[in-house]
Amino acid sequence: MLKVINVVGARPNFMKVAPIMEAMKRRTAEFTPLLVHTGQHYDTSMSAAFFQDLELAEPNVHLEVGSASHARQTAAVMERFEPVVSREQPDWVLVVGDVNSTLACALVSVKLGIKVAHVEAGLRSRDRTMPEEINRLLTDQIADLLLTPSEDAGANLRSEGIPAERISFVGNVMIDSLHKNLERAAASTIREELSLTDKQYAVLTLHRPSNVDDSATFSRIWSALEDIAATLPVVFPIHPRTRKMIKEFGLNTRLAAAQNVRLIEPLGYLDFLSLYSNARLVLTDSGGIQEETTVLGIPCVTLRETTERPITVTLGTNTVVGSDTEKIRQAAIAALGHARKNNFRIPPLWDGHTATRILNALIARGLH
Ligand code: UD1
Repeated sequence: MLKVINVVGARPNFMKVAPIMEAMKRRTAEFTPLLVHTGQHYDTSMSAAFFQDLELAEPNVHLEVGSASHARQTAAVMERFEPVVSREQPDWVLVVGDVNSTLACALVSVKLGIKVAHVEAGLRSRDRTMPEEINRLLTDQIADLLLTPSEDAGANLRSEGIPAERISFVGNVMIDSLHKNLERAAASTIREELSLTDKQYAVLTLHRPSNVDDSATFSRIWSALEDIAATLPVVFPIHPRTRKMIKEFGLNTRLAAAQNVRLIEPLGYLDFLSLYSNARLVLTDSGGIQEETTVLGIPCVTLRETTERPITVTLGTNTVVGSDTEKIRQAAIAALGHARKNNFRIPPLWDGHTATRILNALIARGLH
């Protein structure tokens, strides 16, 4: 019997941990799972909505850290997580992704001599100005079991000197959530509420500090958006960080004036799935959305200079363009040329069964 603390902190963690918790709860003879929420994300639309949509049970422990600078937020998670691990003495702590909570909880656990499993290990953008890249590099150095979503991730880890025995290629667990919820998302009424016609609109998401904390970069992206919106309505669910920056830059009026752009609150998992899975085009700086659009064959234009998920470009539907107005415009025009990229392939092991492989990898390592 393995006792496992599963950690969630921010929005992109919930859809990765939900299938793992569910699988552990089914295998009661082998696993005792606990769920710890650090509270890095706390707005209803960024957290509670996802628990409901993904049928995630209430966390056993909520650390309620909230927002702060990187140092303060990471430190707060560490301080509050340490007594939980000391008290519970789990066999494993399982962390996912690359947010501050991921690194903080991994670091606390290894120092207490508790084994750490990292889901989505080995992704590298090679851009060390991204906070997530630092979180990924450090978490992978200290974790005992590195569960990778793709072959390139394993190659990255081996090239950093991580022994092959610590690496297990399990596939992409986000896609487990995608498969499970596609049908449920069909009941969402979000497209009717926004008066959208299937395949005749684009979806935009934007929240990376590199894009939204700099007004010149944000402006360049927005100019491209205004042009794209002349051809196709654009729906833009706004991340709280982005909303805060738009206000700070005094860009509210320009955004409100944009014809054919719908600014809406962040959506829950099912509404957002319903929205992007029926879109003609997605523009994003998110990591996970590059993967989800690849599996569904939806053209994706990534508004970043690099991606830690190159397989979405080589096999999937993704084009990485950065923040240059003209490049975004050209990529959007090219993507609109074909409703679905027809030569895309779904990457190996992005098949909806990754949670099972993760559990099997934990069992194979057992208590040692
Ligand atoms: C974090 C992750 C990022 C992930 C993103 C998804 C890190 C370093 N970054 O970035 O990798 O892609 O989550 O959303 O961990 N805020 C709210 N309500 C919330 C959460 C945040 O208002 O529920 C606002 C706060 O003003 C906060 C800001 O958003 O200061 C940034 O939040 P934070 O969690 O620090 O980083 P994200 O930009 O969300």
